Amino acid sequence: METSVSITGISAAKIFRICAFLLVSLFACSSFAEEDPASIIAALGLRESVVAARDMKDWERPHKIVVLSDSTARVAWFHEVAKDVTVVGARSHAEAMAQIGDADGLVGSCNPDVINAGAKLRWIQSQAAGVEDCLAIPKVRDGGIILTNMQRVNGPNISEHAMALILTLTRQINAYLANQSEGKWERRPPQELMDLDGHTMLVVGLGGIGTTIAERAHAFGMHVIATRNSGHEGPSFVDYVGVADELPKLIGQADIVVNVTPLTPETTGLFNAAMFERMKPGAYFINVGRGKSVVTDDLLAALKSGRIAGAGLDVVDPEPLPKDHPLWHALNVVITPHVAGSSELKLDRAWLVMRENLRRYVAGDKLFSVVDVERGY
Ligand SMILES: NC(=O)c1ccc[n+]([C@@H]2O[C@H](COP(=O)([O-])OP(=O)(O)OC[C@H]3O[C@@H](n4cnc5c(N)ncnc54)[C@H](OP(=O)(O)O)[C@@H]3O)[C@@H](O)[C@H]2O)c1
Repeated sequence: METSVSITGISAAKIFRICAFLLVSLFACSSFAEEDPASIIAALGLRESVVAARDMKDWERPHKIVVLSDSTARVAWFHEVAKDVTVVGARSHAEAMAQIGDADGLVGSCNPDVINAGAKLRWIQSQAAGVEDCLAIPKVRDGGIILTNMQRVNGPNISEHAMALILTLTRQINAYLANQSEGKWERRPPQELMDLDGHTMLVVGLGGIGTTIAERAHAFGMHVIATRNSGHEGPSFVDYVGVADELPKLIGQADIVVNVTPLTPETTGLFNAAMFERMKPGAYFINVGRGKSVVTDDLLAALKSGRIAGAGLDVVDPEPLPKDHPLWHALNVVITPHVAGSSELKLDRAWLVMRENLRRYVAGDKLFSVVDVERGY
């Protein structure tokens, strides 16, 4: 017989059961993204490899995959799509080192010791979009390992971060925040406020992230032009897409220049004194790609001379930026410590994509986001 305590005719035991059910349901909903991977992958516009994994050089049906994650539940969730394979979790590079010796695949980051200890390693699913650290390892660069990455996955959050950096500068929020910290009601901005509407943005690197930035800038009424590496194709909201070597010509047309290229030999030091000299006087420079694409001393000189109006930087060179570095105190510079890629939603998207690639790798199917080792991204 159920307890006699009841609320509006429902027994306490029933209430307990309902609460328990709701709690379990809540946990199930919030534990791991159960959204359809196909719709997320379609929304991100991920590219499938032309060749199936089973037809790629050196592919063999895998026996063991190591997943870098501090959640055993996450590793079990990965195992669900690769039942015939041993899926082992590693919470640190040290744990990965202990497991990698006989593993065929790694879902994680490119620690050189771990990769070099993986005698049988054939596949790395990088948990990052930029893979310059992976390609610095000869074993990966020489092409013996299939490398897949997180390209395009960061589009939604990084584009919001880029717009936040832009609006902080164009609306002089940085200056007003400084006044606020001193309780100062000073309406006159230190620098003319700029409307985005009607101005021109140049997106350097019109890939997954670059395209979402371009889309948001267009929604603000901006004219958007861009460069990419391989051709002139682009969406309708980009007025002109040039190839990489058109950058020196196009950069002078832009009021806001956003770098979102991967770090490759071609993009290392791309924004140097000569490039800043070609920018429109009073334009803003935003970097959400990689810090090493900018010659920091040249950026500092361009800021100091007033050649450019300001810079919004999520990535810098060096990282972390030393406490006494002059960039911290340069006029009209907004710095965030390489956090544009962070977001709780991105983690769900990223894990779904990695898990789908695991399923495909084990089955020998086409993979998403295979890195072209020659191009470097
Ligand atoms: N701040 C952060 O926290 C953070 C987080 C994630 C990613 N990132 C950086 O953002 C980069 C881009 O990510 P994504 O997901 O957009 O990658 P993606 O989809 O692969 O896009 C890369 C784009 O860069 C273009 N590109 C390559 N070399 C170029 C050059 N020399 N000049 C102009 N364009 C060039 C490519 O052109 P094609 O399309 O013609 O090949 C492609 O459109 C990553 O590699 C990473 O470095 C930063």
